[in-house]
Amino acid sequence: MSTKNAQYYIDLEDKHGAHNYHPLPVVLEKGEGVYVWDVEGKQYFDFLSAYSAVNQGHSHPKIVKALTEQAHKLSLTSRAFYNSNLGEYEKKITSLFGFDKVLPMNSGAEAVETAIKLARKWSYEVKGIKDGYAKIIVCENNFHGRTTTIVSFSNDKDAHNNYGPFTPGFLRIPYNDIEALSKVLEDEAQHIAAFLVEPIQGEAGVYVPDEGYLKNASELCKKHNVLFIADEVQTGIARTGKLIACHHENVQPDILILGKALSGGMYPVSAVLANDNIMQVIHPGQHGSTFGGNPLACAVAVAALDVVEEEKLSERAEELGKFFRAEIQKIIAKTDLIYQVRGKGLLNAILVNDTPESPTAWNLCMQFAENGLLAKPTHGNIIRLAPPLVITKEQLLECVAIIEKVILNYKK
Ligand SMILES: Cc1ncc(COP(=O)(O)O)c(C=O)c1O
Repeated sequence: MSTKNAQYYIDLEDKHGAHNYHPLPVVLEKGEGVYVWDVEGKQYFDFLSAYSAVNQGHSHPKIVKALTEQAHKLSLTSRAFYNSNLGEYEKKITSLFGFDKVLPMNSGAEAVETAIKLARKWSYEVKGIKDGYAKIIVCENNFHGRTTTIVSFSNDKDAHNNYGPFTPGFLRIPYNDIEALSKVLEDEAQHIAAFLVEPIQGEAGVYVPDEGYLKNASELCKKHNVLFIADEVQTGIARTGKLIACHHENVQPDILILGKALSGGMYPVSAVLANDNIMQVIHPGQHGSTFGGNPLACAVAVAALDVVEEEKLSERAEELGKFFRAEIQKIIAKTDLIYQVRGKGLLNAILVNDTPESPTAWNLCMQFAENGLLAKPTHGNIIRLAPPLVITKEQLLECVAIIEKVILNYKK
């Protein structure tokens, strides 16, 4: 336990760090499995999992072992040379997700950028769009990261405003609106490279599209020779009850973007997967990253993927998610404070009955924390609930009891 109290660390960050986040006033210093501990020794259930990066649980021993052993051996070579971890990792990830090739990057946003570049290049060199004219369809309320190009097509004011001039070439349509997609494809498919979509909009508030949306969207894309790009940075790697959320509708995207849980939260590892007909447009020198595909990242990612398979995390998420939503429904029946629970697998959200500007969701999260559970509001009065997938049914029941106690005793 730290000798300093929480306020000391909060003041330090406040004074020396940019104020680009608004954290709950909890200072964490240790994690194991579904638990984290603060500097005063208080234990919490982690119900955010670092935005679904820690699907395998905090400090999973297998991933820690892979990290530490590899760190003692070799961490970074750059891609100027081959290394003995990259090929093994590439073989593992491509066979697990069913693609010919992977392009390794680090953060989620970098992987999204990579997918955009790949789709544009494919559209000029394979589809035959006139150079500089390719467009990519995106959705309202998307969240794909924070780079200048990505925020160019965001309609979230905080993410977007005053960061221009913006990158052109994006068409925004409503999410979960197959008619809108169909219309834009009918009108302009000859200029369109790709449709970039989150299979569930996580940041926007865990919006689950209607059943059939992803299937129909991918078929429309196929019909119009437009690439279907799934950003599964948050939904991927077992979180929603399947290896990727697209599998709920038997959709295999043309380009798959992964990040976060690809390392179990141990290290920034992201990836773009595609088949040869797409990936072959990238040649030496045309894209890359000093850290992408480094031996440490590869060792960690192989271990993280092994854990997903060995511990059957998809199956766990599917089963426990159903159980969790049913338990939350029982709370909803007893209160007016929350009115809906939605999600898939263990990516869920509860909707609070108050205006988007009111602090109710924040206040609830503060009280969850006091009672030993960490969650965070997302966009308005929505609370995302996403524990590590290694959580047991008994632990989940303890969490439901905390959520129920706080909600039923909440006073505005
Ligand atoms: C769907 C999606 N894409 C991309 C990103 C960006 O990932 P990163 O923060 O690692 O850049 C996120 C992060 O939350 C995300 O949820």
